[in-house]
Amino acid sequence: MHIVRRRGWEISEHLVTPEALALNRRGLMAGALALASAGPALAAPGDAPTRNPKFEAGRALTDEKNATTYNNFYEYGESKNIWRQAQALKQRPWTIKLDGLIKQPRTIDIDDLLKQVQQEERIYRHRCVETWAMTVPWTGFTLSQLVALAEPTSAAKYVVFETAQDKTMKGLDSPFYPWPYTEGVTIQEAANDLTFVGTGLYGKPMPPQNGGPIRLVLPWKYGFKSVKSIAKITFTDKRPKTFWEGIQPAEYGFWANVNPAVAHPRWSQARERLLGNDEMVPTQIYNGYAEFVASLYTDLKHEKLFM
Ligand code: MTE
Repeated sequence: MHIVRRRGWEISEHLVTPEALALNRRGLMAGALALASAGPALAAPGDAPTRNPKFEAGRALTDEKNATTYNNFYEYGESKNIWRQAQALKQRPWTIKLDGLIKQPRTIDIDDLLKQVQQEERIYRHRCVETWAMTVPWTGFTLSQLVALAEPTSAAKYVVFETAQDKTMKGLDSPFYPWPYTEGVTIQEAANDLTFVGTGLYGKPMPPQNGGPIRLVLPWKYGFKSVKSIAKITFTDKRPKTFWEGIQPAEYGFWANVNPAVAHPRWSQARERLLGNDEMVPTQIYNGYAEFVASLYTDLKHEKLFM
């Protein structure tokens, strides 16, 4: 197989700049204004996303084909090869129910939501608990912007996400799994700058198999925390029982922060396999994002933070 090897900072423009940007008149206007004032253009909600250079993964980008044809999406089945079946998931209309401890519980249309947030592109490493890993450019916005729109009360301690349950998802027929797929983060994790809501991949709308039209992206945690195709977000004061915790609590915990030194009960987490070339590379604590997130956990030493 021919593998194009690029480092994160060498990515060709067509991969990192969505086509829409080149055509976007507001973007051009902002650029012209910036030139005129010799200062940076200020991005605004609804502007076309541009790449945020603060988030460089420092390793080659995974081939788009690999990232979009090797997936976990149990609603469509247990194999990695569900991308064809997932095409049946209709992406519009799409609404997200916001409920629980917020000022005004309501259902929001995804396109109304996207008008109210500033989107950008970030290249993140992604590490599955099964040890495979990828490096991909996500388009999306910080979860903190959505939290601000939801206006949680001071009693809210956790944010809980549920995947849609659609008739095209044949995996839902399996009574073995505690559907709907549910995941959660603390309100502090939700406010962290790394915590991202993905709406696109490789400059295109999020493919359904990767969790379109809207998913969570938590690059310092094992991939199972990054819930796909979100239909409901609940603010609560109770720690949720998450999907994999419900299936096998001895193997999958609430925190699931990446740590090469803490083995899964059935395999080592010391190294990871890069999708595409199958190279084995050392895993990093917090998947290499300790500088952003380690401080979230300093007072939680008694918790099982790494499973
Ligand atoms: N979300 C839902 N709803 N269903 C799933 O099966 N799998 C998780 C996570 N989110 C999953 C999910 C796991 S185990 C991983 S590793 C990532 O999605 C995979 O994301 P990707 O297919 O975009 O690489």
